[in-house]
Amino acid sequence: MKIAFTSCMNFEAGPGGDQRVWNRIAQEQPDYLFLLGDQIYMDFFPHLEEPRQWSDAYFRQAMTDKYTAQWNTPGFKELFAAMRDRQGPQGGVYGTWDDHDFAWNNASGSQVSATKKGISRELFARFMQIDPPVEGIYYSIPLSHAGERIGRAIFLDTRWYSQEPGDEKRLLGEAQFKFLEHELQQEQGLVLLCAGMPIRATGNGWMRYRDDYARLRQLIYMRNIVFLSGDIHENAFLPPAGATKMFEVISSGAFVTKYKLVGKRENFGILDYTPERTDIKLYDIHGLEHHNVIDNATFEHQEIR
Ligand SMILES: [Fe+2]
Repeated sequence: MKIAFTSCMNFEAGPGGDQRVWNRIAQEQPDYLFLLGDQIYMDFFPHLEEPRQWSDAYFRQAMTDKYTAQWNTPGFKELFAAMRDRQGPQGGVYGTWDDHDFAWNNASGSQVSATKKGISRELFARFMQIDPPVEGIYYSIPLSHAGERIGRAIFLDTRWYSQEPGDEKRLLGEAQFKFLEHELQQEQGLVLLCAGMPIRATGNGWMRYRDDYARLRQLIYMRNIVFLSGDIHENAFLPPAGATKMFEVISSGAFVTKYKLVGKRENFGILDYTPERTDIKLYDIHGLEHHNVIDNATFEHQEIR
């Protein structure tokens, strides 16, 4: 079973035909494509947070235009359609959002008006074709390999329910934590936790929410987990730390520049599962950047590159 995962696509970072990452992903012939947030940029430097001031009508129009432009991008459009045609237990496109496609830079759910959240939710459902029966966008999908059920991918929403960061502030919210707890209880196989906000890979992550981060660690205690995320416009592979057995793997920057005009990104990851091992390759614009193999029996990893 092969999953391609990436995040952060700013079609305004260059001409649409420059998004070569989608052809590179298509060549890998993945069973799944996971898009882990910032599929569009409602704002970017030096115009951060401007959408906060926009009228609801302008917000809706801008978001629709940005999604339309990205969804019509050559390579992306073909890959998305091909993956969707294979929708079912063996294939498809899944994902979640992060700040820039939810509202604006670093936006917490508590800062965004109900109407703007509604617009954002509606357009995510329309373009991503994902519409779980909850307010935000958390859900899970079964994963299978060669016709056998092997585990599940759980997609979390780190925006809709969140408050501005703080030790006792809310990140996931009670209902979503209950959902996560239930999903973990139901699943004995491979668990991929997917979220737009990284945990340890950035200072802007889950660790700013002391209590919710502790609650997550408690839920996954002694569980083998691979956490997939985006946001930081870099690739990263972080082995488990402390009392968790959770690998954190980031692939971010499908089509962005690191700074305003320079530092073009073409990042994506490939997670290739076989019953013996989980092989994780992270690619950048030059080729293979990181390669790690996790032994499924021991959950120990080996760095190849
Ligand atoms: Fe981003």
